[in-house]
Amino acid sequence: MGSLNKEIHRPAPQPLAVVNCGELITLAGPARPRVGAEMRELAAIRSGAMLIRERKIERVGRESEIAPLISPQHQAVDARGRVVLPGFVDAHTHPVFAATRVDEYAMRATGASYEEIAAAGGGIRSTVRKTRAAPEQELLETARQRLHWFLRGGTTTLEAKSGYGLSLESERKILRVIRQLQEEKCLRLVPTFLGAHEVPDEFRSQPEDYVNLLVTEMLPAVAAEGLAEYCDVFCEPKVFPVAAARRILDAARALGLGIRVHADQLTRSGAAELAASVGAATADHLEQIDPEGIRALACGNVQPVLLPASVYTLGSKQFPPARAMIEAGLAVVLATDFNPGSSPTPSMPFVLSLASTQMHMAQAEAITAATINAAYSLGRGSAIGSLEAGKQADFVIHDCHDYREIAYFAGIEPAIATYLGGQCVYSRHDCFDHGML
Ligand code: NIG
Ligand code: FE
Repeated sequence: MGSLNKEIHRPAPQPLAVVNCGELITLAGPARPRVGAEMRELAAIRSGAMLIRERKIERVGRESEIAPLISPQHQAVDARGRVVLPGFVDAHTHPVFAATRVDEYAMRATGASYEEIAAAGGGIRSTVRKTRAAPEQELLETARQRLHWFLRGGTTTLEAKSGYGLSLESERKILRVIRQLQEEKCLRLVPTFLGAHEVPDEFRSQPEDYVNLLVTEMLPAVAAEGLAEYCDVFCEPKVFPVAAARRILDAARALGLGIRVHADQLTRSGAAELAASVGAATADHLEQIDPEGIRALACGNVQPVLLPASVYTLGSKQFPPARAMIEAGLAVVLATDFNPGSSPTPSMPFVLSLASTQMHMAQAEAITAATINAAYSLGRGSAIGSLEAGKQADFVIHDCHDYREIAYFAGIEPAIATYLGGQCVYSRHDCFDHGML
């Protein structure tokens, strides 16, 4: 464990005055994840402004209140009437892997299923073979490029899983890449150990031996080196069934790691109940969950992380029942599940679009799920996920005047400038070139 994103040695950026925000979507509210009707409360300020100092938000309010406080030391950032949002917090990604699986994408287009491809030795295991063989430096460089895609979508924090190594050495290699990227500070990263992503080739005939290796060697080493903050398991009858997943998660919890679970994605196996009983922070996917599973999550205070882009990419129609979850009082989270197989998209705006069109979430609910609720699911609700005094100045200027256009104009990249801790980490050059910013 340990604090992520240790302060960098760069000097603090100049104080900023972010002015002329047509809609400043603050998400100010109670200091906890938002549930029920609260998910529609965005605490938007029309004609808003924000003062930033030492990487943090100092004041947020109406332009008329903030303007008298602006001094010559402030550098002005003029949003020109556009929407300003907190950076998206993408609470479920697998960003470190070698190569692509574009060949499998083509096979699925003409009829093969994800499970068939995996059973034939493709799927996760094919990425594992290539990732094991890839030098650390190469993984670092490709992951760094992918992180830039997230910034272009307006994401400033990413939960990043390992899981394409499946041996102690290869998993450490991936987690070291994540740590290196954390230190580079292009965005905030939260590392998760997913050694239980699949049973590797060499353990196919004795999967229980791999579970033993995970529990007795891999997890203790990862925890001792402080390489991960959470542990995740792909809980699925043919991968890690509930009993094996429980053993792994109990061991992880005993080592002080937080818990996240890939649960009830392909099969309703009771993984939601498992998540609740091991005190997981989140249960992710949940396409197959039923009312009983929803009740278990509610009783266990587990946040569901919904990943509609993976449902879309696999060509399935079975999206998780977001409305039933919101009605049950769950603090729903949305994320991309960025990975080379089931969800090769880094775009939170695309996820927001799917949330509206396929899961019937109101746009405001989707924004809450992609910011403040996601931040709480990562134990960072008091530092990020909303634009409130004292929080990190992670914000994004989107090229629209109504926040609902972010999902509506699907397929464009609405972010025109992304700020992390008060520093511009991405901006669209064309906006500067054409005097749009
Ligand atoms: O979350 N379901 C397991 N893991 C990923 C897929 C990873 C892959 O196909 O490479 C997921 O969908
Ligand atoms: Fe995943």
